[in-house]
Amino acid sequence: MIGSVRSMSCTVVVDGFYGDGGKGKIVSYLVVSEDAAVCARGGVGPNAGHTVVKDGVKYKLRMVPCGFVNERTIQLIGPGVLVNPEIFLKEIDETGTGGRVGLDPQCAIIEPKHIELDRKGHLKEKIGTTGTGTGPCNADRAMRTAKMAREIPELEPYMKDVPQLVNDALDGGENVIIEGTQGTYISLYHGGYPYVTSNDVCAAATCSDVGVGPTRVDEVVLVCKAYVTRVGEGPLEGELSSEEAKRRGWDEYGTVTGRQRRAAPFNHRLAKRAAMINGATQLAITKMDILYPQCKGVSSYDDVPEVAKAFIAEIEEKVGLPVTLVGTGPGVEEIIDRR
Ligand code: GTP
Ligand code: IMP
Ligand code: MG
Repeated sequence: MIGSVRSMSCTVVVDGFYGDGGKGKIVSYLVVSEDAAVCARGGVGPNAGHTVVKDGVKYKLRMVPCGFVNERTIQLIGPGVLVNPEIFLKEIDETGTGGRVGLDPQCAIIEPKHIELDRKGHLKEKIGTTGTGTGPCNADRAMRTAKMAREIPELEPYMKDVPQLVNDALDGGENVIIEGTQGTYISLYHGGYPYVTSNDVCAAATCSDVGVGPTRVDEVVLVCKAYVTRVGEGPLEGELSSEEAKRRGWDEYGTVTGRQRRAAPFNHRLAKRAAMINGATQLAITKMDILYPQCKGVSSYDDVPEVAKAFIAEIEEKVGLPVTLVGTGPGVEEIIDRR
């Protein structure tokens, strides 16, 4: 199967577990390797934190797409995404991507009142949200009372018809990467309600967020970490104690909230179901260097130890998809590309 997946004109990148799988790193690699004309971000909003490590510098992105690493790539935020103008403008400064970034006038705006509501009551206590205001903002959006990006003067220079631009790029034969956020099992529809985020975040929803129809998609890359993490409340099968997670080096801390992520071993059943729901065509397995330190920085599959190859082979067999990308470190180039 490996080697058959080559043409990647429209590629969607989504997460097969509970988010934080390393989509930021995979997207940043793909925009470079495919020399993508457009990187379009879908998903909920600034509750996401995507980490990109480029030339030793760590970027934590909550609004700006990870495509900024390629100087040719246009960064677009689709109308499905909720925007916090302050975070958006700050990240433009940090990434220096100002001339190449756009957002849709139909993005809804997160206001201070949304953040305030998200930081108390059942959202904080029972759900353990990120406190970034996304749930209350989506509620206002459904009530048709939300403020829209087109109403914010500071955002005026960045207004773009995102669905039109993304589809124009595809019509022109250019490569487009659609960047998902969160993860399959915190989707409002496909996760265990109520311990979920405030919208669907699977591949079909992510395409809708940026205005791309299902017939246009060529590849869906399902990103799964070599172990499972979950931040916030809700069940986690096989959850390790915090001490055991630390002992294994699986203790991670949230990009947005700084909370320790709960950890569990890789879950083949969840990965297989996520592949089904997202219509995945290939898998990216990240953090193989944490599971098998000999994988650190390796870029050729030949140099991967047998035990790690067996781990990958078992995933391919149980999920029924090729593992085309293997993460061997946080850097954009720390990856094995088996396509
Ligand atoms: P959400 O949209 O918030 O779900 O985020 P995400 O999927 O982009 O993941 P996030 O950046 O929050 O977390 C992934 C973490 O793993 C980051 O710290 C990355 O730098 C790191 N990372 C990604 N791939 C690898 C890898 O292959 N090896 C190592 N060691 N770290 C990795
Ligand atoms: P909210 O999206 O902030 O409303 O939070 C709802 C649940 O989703 C909480 O358990 C959060 O920790 C989780 N969550 C939201 N966004 C992300 C993300 O990008 N990565 C991981 N977990 C997330
Ligand atoms: Mg994250």
